[in-house]
Amino acid sequence: MIYCVGVGPGDKKHITNYAVELISNADVVVGFEYVLKIIETYLKSNTKTYVLTYKIQVSKLEEIARLHHQGLTVIVVFMGDIHFSGFQLLERVELACGHNVETVPGISSSQILASRARVCFDETSFITFHRRGNIEPFKKHLISILNDNRNAIIIPRPFDFMPKDIACFLLDNGIDTTHQVEVWENLTQAESCWTGFLKDLNQDFSDISIMLIRCLVPIVSQL
Ligand SMILES: C[S@@+](CC[C@H](N)C(=O)[O-])C[C@H]1O[C@@H](n2cnc3c(N)ncnc32)[C@H](O)[C@@H]1O
Repeated sequence: MIYCVGVGPGDKKHITNYAVELISNADVVVGFEYVLKIIETYLKSNTKTYVLTYKIQVSKLEEIARLHHQGLTVIVVFMGDIHFSGFQLLERVELACGHNVETVPGISSSQILASRARVCFDETSFITFHRRGNIEPFKKHLISILNDNRNAIIIPRPFDFMPKDIACFLLDNGIDTTHQVEVWENLTQAESCWTGFLKDLNQDFSDISIMLIRCLVPIVSQL
């Protein structure tokens, strides 16, 4: 069996019981180093781990797909929840396996941000730039989210479309300078938060950061 499992935003409190159960019974666990670190205490002593890097991920995934086809239980661990900004890796896993695989949801960094920043998902759209390929359609979509008076929760792209680049792009495209923005770093770990107006965002942040742009007129105040 092979499962793709979301392991939460970083700390142990936010890993689901099901993820722990799967990981602690696995023959093989695969993931990027940062994500493997989150779950290392749950590994059996004889579980084999495979570290993915962007360069070697395709060949590593082919290798682990062979182990899965030999009958081993393989868990591919994902940051947060697979279903937000995780599908490019999921697609690579499925391509290597030759079939669809089961996904197990986790707690996303976007959910932690929503809780810290008190944001209602109903009034919010989610967008990731953390992807390979052309991000132009996603940039356009972000403009339309804000023009539709919705909050945007945004995963930047390290390191060529980070929060300050996103702010600059939006201002160049006529978005109101007074949108309230928050950039959260290292949620659930050594957290920090920058808050200010869109026009004032020119700081650098690490790759473990997620951004909120609030709509100008909160729907709740229109009731
Ligand atoms: C490939 S995306 C995966 C997102 C993940 N699937 C999720 O649901 O949180 C990785 C990006 O998510 C954001 N991220 C993940 N965990 C985070 C955390 N604990 N604090 C802030 N941002 C985080 C960062 O922008 C990071 O570069």
